[in-house]
Formats: sequence, C-alpha cells, structure tokens
Amino acid sequence: MQHLVDTDQLSDAQIRQILEDASRFKTRKPAPLLSGKLLITLFFENSTRTRSSFEVAAKRLGADMVHLDPSRSSTKKGETLEDTFANLCAMEPDGVIIRHSENDTPSRLAEMDQVPVINAGAGNYAHPTQALLDLYTLYEWFGEEIEGLRVAIVGDIVNSRVAASDIRLFRRMGIEVSLVAPKPFMPPVSDLPQFERLEDIMDEVDVIISLRAQLERHKKPIFDDYSAYAEHYCITEDRLEDRGIVIMHPGPVMRNIDISDEILEDPRCMVLDQVRNGVYVRMAVLKLLLLDAKEYGSDPLHR
Ligand code: CP
Repeated sequence: MQHLVDTDQLSDAQIRQILEDASRFKTRKPAPLLSGKLLITLFFENSTRTRSSFEVAAKRLGADMVHLDPSRSSTKKGETLEDTFANLCAMEPDGVIIRHSENDTPSRLAEMDQVPVINAGAGNYAHPTQALLDLYTLYEWFGEEIEGLRVAIVGDIVNSRVAASDIRLFRRMGIEVSLVAPKPFMPPVSDLPQFERLEDIMDEVDVIISLRAQLERHKKPIFDDYSAYAEHYCITEDRLEDRGIVIMHPGPVMRNIDISDEILEDPRCMVLDQVRNGVYVRMAVLKLLLLDAKEYGSDPLHR
C-alpha cells in the first residue's frame, strides 16, 4: 500500500507519471477511473483550496467523498486520532486525506497501513500535493527543461509546509532555490542561499514564490504591523518593473502584504493557474495511489 506523506515517497517515475497524467486530465475529459471508490477527508485545519480541490478531483474521476468535520467529531469527546482513523478505516474507504497541525500525524496514520493516507498539509513539515502542483505549474510555463531554474521563496519560510515540500522537491529536480525573508521568518538551519532584501535577488531569479505569514503557527506576534513588512517584501509593480519573473503563491494571499492588487492581475502572476492545476495534479495523485500503486508491494511508506 502506498501513502503520500511527502514527495520523497514517490519514485522519479511516479513524479513523471503524475505530471503526465495531470497534463492528460487537463486536455481531455477523464474517464470515471475511480468510480466506486470512496475517500474520506479529515481536515483539522481550515482549507479553501486543498479540500475543495481534492473533492473536485475525486468527483471528476467518479469517486465519492465523505467529509468528517473534526470540530463535530468524537475527537472532541476524547477519542484519540488513531482510534478515529481506525474507526473510519472500518468503513472501508479507499483512502483518507488528512490535514493536521502536527507534523507527524499523516506519517503516524500511514504507519497503521490500513488505507492509503494522503497528507493535505501537516504542521510546517509537508504539503506534498501543493509541491507537485507548483512543480507542474513550472513545467507548464517553462517546459520540461527546468533544471537550473532559479526560484526564490519569499516570506514566512520557517513556518511554511509549502516551503518545506517545495524545497525538497525542487532541489531533487535540479531547481536552484534561494530564501528571502526577515530573520524571524528564516529557517535557523539551511544550506540554501539566504537574503534579507528582496532587491538583492530581483535580477537573479526566474520565479518568486511568495508566502503569507503563518500567524496560526506564531507562538507570539512576530511583527506588530505587517504594512512595515510589506514595504520590504510585497511583490509590487515597482519591484518587478518589466522583468519576466513568474509570481506564484500557494494561497491564501494577503493582498498588498504578500502581493499587490496590480500584480495579482498581472499575466506574470500564476496564483489562479496553480489552483486550476491543483485539481489535475490531485486527480493524478488519486489515480496513482488508488489504482496504479495497488500492483506494488506492501512497504507502508515506500515502494
Ligand atoms: N494552498 C493551500 O493549502 O490552501 P488552503 O489552506 O486553502 O487549502
């Protein structure tokens, strides 16, 4: 049984297959490959894009989906997450999609190896389908030769699971990643090039991935005033000028703090393309885990 806790569980061939399947799903109406399959979602943190994107992806492939609202579940009566998961698995779904604030929750459930577990975001550790859809969006824009592409990740990097997953996947694909952030947002340990000023990388990058401040993960307020942060890190017309830098963001975007209103309307801004692509990439991930991976061995975390 194969799970998706982060993309390091995927072979190079599987990543290629996800990108190819996503392209096929995008250009041709898909057959109901997952007809008769049932997925359960368990989102312990809020989501607009990921949860609805998984639901659209599942339904486009003919699968059914049940959402358990954790705020109304028996976890509130003291049932452990493992027991909740085991009870859901007793209903024989074909996969469980989980988002949680704890970094190790998806891997703990995957180790129980009852149904394929798909991580839809865990703490600041990993958000694999976001990384895959970001990679797909780069492939779509730049073509297959993305080795050597220069990507700067800007913002609250230390608290971002998107940054963590993007960095691991992009480096594996030969993409050069640099980090731009004020000190409190910078990872304390990293072997990647680090910059405090956005101006220092503007002529050195092909892509900027902007991130919002992950306020829900700050133990105490880091900045009193995000307009002062925006003066240095917001992606604006003045900063971009006529450079052909592609702008991405996983969402939700804090307007005029992360990216200005004008740049959100600019053709260089891929934010809604990322969301559109997310559906096709998640269709490809569901196909891989629910159909294709069945023929492989039973190592719980790896093929
Ligand atoms: N990109 C992303 O994870 O967005 P949501 O939190 O809305 O799912």
